[in-house]
Amino acid sequence: MDVFSEIRPLKAFLSQEKKELNSIGFVPTMGALHKGHLSLIEASRSENRLTVCSIFVNPAQFNNPADLARYPRTLEKDKLLLEKAKCNVLFCPDTAQMYSSQSRVIFDFGELDKTMEGYYRPGHFSGVALVVSKLLNIVTPDRAYFGQKDYQQFKIIEKLVDDLKFDVSLRCMPIIREPDGLAMSSRNARLTQVQRNKAPVFYQSLEEAKSLLRHGDSMKNVRALIAGKMERMGDVKLEYLELADTTNLTPTENVSDNTVLLIAGYVGEIRLIDNLLMKDED
Ligand code: PAJ
Repeated sequence: MDVFSEIRPLKAFLSQEKKELNSIGFVPTMGALHKGHLSLIEASRSENRLTVCSIFVNPAQFNNPADLARYPRTLEKDKLLLEKAKCNVLFCPDTAQMYSSQSRVIFDFGELDKTMEGYYRPGHFSGVALVVSKLLNIVTPDRAYFGQKDYQQFKIIEKLVDDLKFDVSLRCMPIIREPDGLAMSSRNARLTQVQRNKAPVFYQSLEEAKSLLRHGDSMKNVRALIAGKMERMGDVKLEYLELADTTNLTPTENVSDNTVLLIAGYVGEIRLIDNLLMKDED
């Protein structure tokens, strides 16, 4: 695997690959890699001649400085995992490389970044859009791979790519879960054993909510039931549970195959998110 920490040599390397008409697949990450990330590498490898992964903990998308400071950083271990997954190129810049100038472009996605993650983490999606724009300009991939795990993030990136006419095809890949249903996340590494045992409640709640809604229960009742259940567990707190339209993520009360359930909350101080499509998988 070729490793680059600077933009210029990476661009020189990639332009040579382009001259040879090699297709480029791109997997942006913040590191602390797990099987969810590796599934994106695998998807990229199956569709492209060359796979580029980036690892960059992006300060602009953290609205909480303590969360940024505590974000797990495991670069050496990540490199080994990427080698094993046969990733071709790793781009791991430092903050000065990515944010060399003082200017801060602000993105506004209207309703799409005012609800759920956008509401509870103000500025978060503007920071995501900023770094993804920079990375797409640097790597200029043919295809870029993201996880359904961050559903709202994928919708934002779709809008960004459409609005700014980035010449890239986007892929949204399924959520990889632990055997007990917990969606894999870099943040899971920070859970204590007791917290880890409680964390699957987010996925279980999505399944329960889906079943109750399918049987005609209202979102209001379902939300209250799940919030109460979490409260009684101790150390677990529901932040939001929403049913939203899959096309524009507008919250709705009306269940259909075109809706998705999205959940966020805390186990101790660790914030977890998850989601479940209302459409049954075939
Ligand atoms: P990060 O949280 O490292 O996630 C990188 C990619 O892996 C995202 O597209 C995310 O949706 C996907 N992913 C995470 N957990 C997954 C799982 N359990 N199953 C499948 N895919 C999963 O998302 C970010 O980084 C950043 O916001 C980024 C896009 C890199 C911009 O900084």
